[in-house]
Amino acid sequence: MVGFEKPVLETLNFPKPASALTFPRMSLLLGVNIDHVATLRQARYALLPDSPNAEPSVVEAALEAKAGGADSITVHVRGDRRHMQDADVFRVKEACDLPLNLELGITEEMMDLAFRLKPAFACLVPETREEVTTEGGLDVIALFGTAREAVKRLQDAGIKVSLFIDPVPEHVEAAARMGADMIELHTGAFANADESSEEISRLIAAAKLGHERGFQVNAGHGINYRNLSQLLQVPYLSELNIGHSIVSRAMTVGMRQAVSEMAEGMKAYTQ
Ligand code: PXP
Repeated sequence: MVGFEKPVLETLNFPKPASALTFPRMSLLLGVNIDHVATLRQARYALLPDSPNAEPSVVEAALEAKAGGADSITVHVRGDRRHMQDADVFRVKEACDLPLNLELGITEEMMDLAFRLKPAFACLVPETREEVTTEGGLDVIALFGTAREAVKRLQDAGIKVSLFIDPVPEHVEAAARMGADMIELHTGAFANADESSEEISRLIAAAKLGHERGFQVNAGHGINYRNLSQLLQVPYLSELNIGHSIVSRAMTVGMRQAVSEMAEGMKAYTQ
């Protein structure tokens, strides 16, 4: 716990390890989503992308996230380019040697970007122009044929593919029939519900089923320093993808410290 400033320790509800003899099955990895670093830059420099004044830097953010203990960097180039620009993701891949996870909507434009970028991982997400952020999982039943083809094309290009899905058994089964490598369980409903809700049970059931079907099971959306401890009840998780809360905390303590606090909290994972 070295390195925490005291007020943070007091406000964060990290679980304590059950006993000194309880060892984690494996460490839970932290993917840091740096989209909102670009959101802040775009708020001032959207029309001046090449200005030497353009800040904050997504490359510096990625490098600082690595220094704080990030295991991978996640970026999402949206169709409307509201935060990450194409050039950003190439620069991040070039400058930072952590695995890059590209979130993408299933469009030819984004598939083409993925083939040129060649990230380690691609996560297929739903995307509509009106949403503020990704609001639900990919409907892998309604979009079965389209998503299956995208999975195969990305895999053929040497990219491991994840499907961002709601914690619904039928969606886990459809993802398995599609031959994806990973699922990322959408934790948004959990994050927005109160602690007594059933959302954690839905995540637990979906993670168990995903594990049975041979998936690497990840989770993301709305995870923060406060709800992390409850989320750690979900078994078989390999990686959490966290953006908004870390970038927000970085405003106060810096990216390196914000990432290291989250990574520290995740060490309590023993599932
Ligand atoms: N995972 C996916 C698939 C996402 O679309 C997002 C949001 O961009 C995240 C994780 C991160 O969510 P948050 O910014 O709320 O931590």
